[in-house]
Amino acid sequence: MRVLQVSAEIFPLLKTGGLADVAGALPAALAAAGEDVRVLLPGFPAILAGVAGLVPVAGLRAPWGEAARLLHGRIPALGQLPAYVLDAPALYDRPGNPYEDAEHRPYADSHRRFALLGWAAAQLARGADPHWAPELVHAHDWHAGLAPAYLAYLPGQPARSVFTVHNLAYQGRFGPDVFAGLGLPSSAFQVNGLEFHGDVSFMKAGLYFADRITTVSPSYAREIQTPAQGQGLDGLLRGRAGVLDGILNGVDDRVWDPATDTLLPHRYRMPEGRRMAGKALCKASLQHALGLEVRADAPLFVLVSRLTEQKGLHLVLDGLDELLARGGQLALLGSGDAALEEAFRQRAAAAPRRVAASLGYDEALAHRLFAGGDVTLVPSMFEPCGLTQMYGLRYGALPLVHRVGGLADTVTDCTLEDLAEGTANGFVFDGFTARDFGRALRRAFALFARPADWRRVRATGMRRPAGWAEPAQRYIEVYRHAAAR
Ligand code: ADP
Ligand code: GLC
Repeated sequence: MRVLQVSAEIFPLLKTGGLADVAGALPAALAAAGEDVRVLLPGFPAILAGVAGLVPVAGLRAPWGEAARLLHGRIPALGQLPAYVLDAPALYDRPGNPYEDAEHRPYADSHRRFALLGWAAAQLARGADPHWAPELVHAHDWHAGLAPAYLAYLPGQPARSVFTVHNLAYQGRFGPDVFAGLGLPSSAFQVNGLEFHGDVSFMKAGLYFADRITTVSPSYAREIQTPAQGQGLDGLLRGRAGVLDGILNGVDDRVWDPATDTLLPHRYRMPEGRRMAGKALCKASLQHALGLEVRADAPLFVLVSRLTEQKGLHLVLDGLDELLARGGQLALLGSGDAALEEAFRQRAAAAPRRVAASLGYDEALAHRLFAGGDVTLVPSMFEPCGLTQMYGLRYGALPLVHRVGGLADTVTDCTLEDLAEGTANGFVFDGFTARDFGRALRRAFALFARPADWRRVRATGMRRPAGWAEPAQRYIEVYRHAAAR
């Protein structure tokens, strides 16, 4: 099937979070399964720079009159993946974060920047490129949410659509005044459409108009159908439950494999002998590089995260005294919320040999943290899928997670029965409270004090099958259902 993936970011060209990892991994897995896959991306500077051999395919005119060019090229960093890029400098030629300016304010013309993305997908479906037109458009998150809406109104519906929710909390909601410029029939602006409490919601457009909906874990697929986690869209999602699937993300083993990872000072694999010398060397080298005490016997907790409310970081701050009192170390890599950055900076300054806070974005350091860490902290309030707990599993840094979303679907707590059965692979807490987080921390220390058990649990985590082949098969089934609609 000819499949067009539509996404605002793609690893390794442009990444703010897990969406990019998925957009960078899924196309190759689909192609390996025999699908004819291309991607459509906005022409942000980092994307234009990462696509080779760009040639113009068509001139486009957005519904509000703005001109853009549709280019085609290939992405060398992704095995020459064919890519369409929207060239519209007035909209996209801004460096840095694709969603907000240097002061962390969303761009005032975000609706246009991403309406054009959905619009271009529909133009491709109706033949903008005479050599290739998608039979199925797979739109990711609100940035691509208008694609299913535009497609639904094309005469004859030349392509079916699948919309994937990576995070329902970011909705792409704009005032009603933007609707007139979008080029959709007025009937689209109603409750049975993309209208949401009087506003235009790009997320709702995707959820309402797509032939099929997916989200990134089975648990999150259930959670978003509840008022507690539905962000006001749970009613619509319950109504569409018959076309909604939860498909757990994979781990891209071209990028995330401690046996081949060239970003690590030492590589290691399972089984590598019980003590995993390579991982121990990674830990020592990381401790040294971060100015931490180089001690094998101090459990090293690592955290790689956007610093936002979603990620439950106040639990880490509240639990830090206990973590240190028990002899642990913390190494954080993150950026985002200024108050959280400051809080971690202060904690690191107060105990530089025990706490390291690297504020900023650093792909290589992220790899070294998972490789050097003993425990990966992911105490998120909610988590659609979560990738860092999976990287932690793969790299032998046991995840400590809140039992929500994809975290619940990937991590099995060290209860006595799961230890006995060999299924435990981390630490899971239920209540989103300092108390429950603290108890999970104590379980981690208790297990660390039993090295043989620790190694067994770590081996279970590292062996967890998590490639993209299986999720790709699940998406292909969804595409077939959409096509057969
Ligand atoms: P989300 O998409 O909600 O941010 P995920 O766990 O799905 O959460 O994905 C986060 C991705 O971003 C992972 O690949 C993680 O390693 C990466 N990441 C997050 N913060 C940083 C950072 N400061 N530096 C490098 N990589 C980061
Ligand atoms: C979102 C979610 C995260 C998920 C990622 C990739 O950013 O917050 O849980 O892993 O998308 O699907």
